[in-house]
Amino acid sequence: MLRLPGLIDPHVHMREPGAAHKEDWDSGTQAALAGGSTILLAMPNTTPPVTDSTTLDLALDCARAKARCDYAQFLGAGPDNPTSAAELAPRATGLKMYLDQTFGPLRLDDMTLWMEHFDHWPTHLPIVAHAEGRSIAAVILLAQLFDRPVHIAHVARREEILLIRAAKEKGLKVTCEVAPHHLFLCAADLSGGRGEVRPRLAAPEDQQALWDNLDIIDCFATDHAPHTAAEKDGPNPPPGFPGLETALPLLLTAVYEGRLSLEDVLMRCHTNPRCIFGLPEQPDTWIEIDPDAPWTITAAQTFTRCAWTPFEGRPVRGKVTRVVLRGQVAYEHGKILAPAGFGRDVRSNSTQKPNPNLNQL
Ligand code: NCD
Ligand code: ZN
Repeated sequence: MLRLPGLIDPHVHMREPGAAHKEDWDSGTQAALAGGSTILLAMPNTTPPVTDSTTLDLALDCARAKARCDYAQFLGAGPDNPTSAAELAPRATGLKMYLDQTFGPLRLDDMTLWMEHFDHWPTHLPIVAHAEGRSIAAVILLAQLFDRPVHIAHVARREEILLIRAAKEKGLKVTCEVAPHHLFLCAADLSGGRGEVRPRLAAPEDQQALWDNLDIIDCFATDHAPHTAAEKDGPNPPPGFPGLETALPLLLTAVYEGRLSLEDVLMRCHTNPRCIFGLPEQPDTWIEIDPDAPWTITAAQTFTRCAWTPFEGRPVRGKVTRVVLRGQVAYEHGKILAPAGFGRDVRSNSTQKPNPNLNQL
């Protein structure tokens, strides 16, 4: 049995408000605890999207009532909110800019809007960009022009990780995350609606490039993006995979196989996310794992409401056996013990001081 710090997942879609049939703050935070996360950062592409004080209140009210682990909420960058979003910044964990097409209505095409957001959002608070391919080059340049850091979400391709490496080698303020599904799945592994995700699953060369450039990957983030099995199998399958309950077992399996060290995992699932997003220490908080326990992933045993997993049937090693959150046993041997509403907003009483100059080569 090993004791580790509570994991921090900086990229999670809670689906509330607006789509509680996929997930809500209750089911989603149960999935987080079962996967060993004690803090999750929630994305703003809900219905309605979180872009102003009314929608931020709506999301945080749901979270306050239901969350079983700690959390903070991102604000979404829209065409009309560069000034007002900046005023709400103290209540959010960061600004999310959607620069390429994905699920939800928040895509920003016009680069002058990107610039307005870079200009207004407080410099000491994080900006996370959903950017793919050449958009990554564009957003790194803009961050430079405004002399501020940018964090690139779910890097999936060789050209992307090599660009970020080159930027870091020049000392540019860029950090990045990779999702387990891009480390452990290729496009050929899943077909049809179940395989839809943004960024798309890639080629084996892309997957290998992520492993080869592990040293510049700052965080592992699930991009837990639940849609129901019926939606995924229907005529217009939305992109997105659940990931909260499978991330740590997949990573621990890589540790078991000698592809990663436990330190690699902790750096990217705890230390760096805490630093990049300026998150507080959680007192009396840890997780216990059985690092070698063999089991097989199946959606039948998950807490997420979406009821499927892209890793169905995969044998893994490593299980979360217990989660202690702020002195209380929150999860033990398959049972959630933290009540709804136990989770705290980690932004409500914190002075956030992110340090985005990580892993600079
Ligand atoms: C996400 C979702 O469903 O909200 N989908 C996805 O494929 N990753 C949106 C996103 O993070 O791009
Ligand atoms: Zn996402």
